[in-house]
Amino acid sequence: MIAQGRLLLDPARAPEPGWVRVDQSRIAEVRLGEPPPSERPPALGGPDALIITAFVDAHCHFPQTDSVGIDGLELLPWLEKAVFPAESWWGRGGARASALTAARRHLRQGTVGVAAYLTSHAEGSREALVGVASQTPLRFIAGRVGMDRHAPEDLLAEDRSRARLTPPAPCVLAPLANGEDPRRVVSANPRFAVSCSEELLAEFGWWVREHPGTWVQTHLSESRAECDLVRRLFPGAPHYTGVYDRAGLLTERTLLAHAIHLSDEELALIAQRRSIIVHCPAANTFLQAGLFDLDRARAAGVRVALGSDIAAGADAAMPRVARAMIEVAKVRSMTRRPTDPPVHVPTPAEAWDMITRVNADLLGWNDTARLEAGASADFLVLSVPPTWLDEHAAGRLIYNWDADLVRSYVYAGQVWKP
Ligand code: GUN
Ligand code: ZN
Repeated sequence: MIAQGRLLLDPARAPEPGWVRVDQSRIAEVRLGEPPPSERPPALGGPDALIITAFVDAHCHFPQTDSVGIDGLELLPWLEKAVFPAESWWGRGGARASALTAARRHLRQGTVGVAAYLTSHAEGSREALVGVASQTPLRFIAGRVGMDRHAPEDLLAEDRSRARLTPPAPCVLAPLANGEDPRRVVSANPRFAVSCSEELLAEFGWWVREHPGTWVQTHLSESRAECDLVRRLFPGAPHYTGVYDRAGLLTERTLLAHAIHLSDEELALIAQRRSIIVHCPAANTFLQAGLFDLDRARAAGVRVALGSDIAAGADAAMPRVARAMIEVAKVRSMTRRPTDPPVHVPTPAEAWDMITRVNADLLGWNDTARLEAGASADFLVLSVPPTWLDEHAAGRLIYNWDADLVRSYVYAGQVWKP
């Protein structure tokens, strides 16, 4: 199968006329110029189409797709009023359908891979992952959420009873056996220090030590009230980051969502452990959690990915998350004091790299989110105004994104219909 169009090979430059040949699930060839006469008309696209790689989202919650827009609350009351009731539904049989809706929403926005949270229900989480893996082309690093306090009883029951089992039942922590497919990975997701006792965190740490290479996902230092509560809940810990470190949860496969309010010492520790911070700019604004300092994290040597954080973030569309990242940096720049260091505002091309290659590489998927021979054939064929096909193409897409621009989706070499 051949797809023809302007190829956005470098987001800092104008897309170039060319074509992509797909062989089974892979890109076999990427060429500039006209497709060979035997391939005209092409199966997909045409001279006026724009071809871009699919996106990767480094943080989202499958059960929260229907919880977007419950505004006016700070993180902890928002979890109580908006999130926990939605997650309870997974324990009452809604998991598979809800996960499929979430997965299709991501795919419709052009996202081929996500790092995701499920709920604390082991069976619901297993059904959700089996459903998404068997019925959609979405890649995932996803896990059952661990939590044993500060939430409604039905969300805590499984971890509270499991806490009496030593060692923990593997089927609870890993609802789906990790097979050979690196596109579908089960992670360990202790929700955050507020909803996990020290014992539960230690059990997750034990699991990770026993299963090296396990991905860990958790939340860190999102709101100030949360940080205050963690200080009270873990009086012996040096700081919030230290709570996870003591449990053995900071590895180079740990995704730490938010990480807004950190000391230099905490950032240095995250850099030393090679853990990854997932910046979720739209979510941080929605919950008024704070303005993440991307420059400071990078200067400390920390690797940073970008996430939608559905449902605190309203948008599954990664170009809109990229836009939110640029806007947060602009707000920081406009509101900085004269004595503060200047703020680097990411260019659209840099933001585009984040939602494609950078996110993919950080999640261990260096075979996707790029238009290259040998990569997984995960790309979108768009219909855009001809005036967009200039060196501002990435900016135009970021600021004008709409899934209606997508004429065809190709995921793992197959045309996907929304
Ligand atoms: N911290 C703990 N759980 C959550 C969640 O579901 N969403 C966000 N934004 N922060 C959290
Ligand atoms: Zn989250």
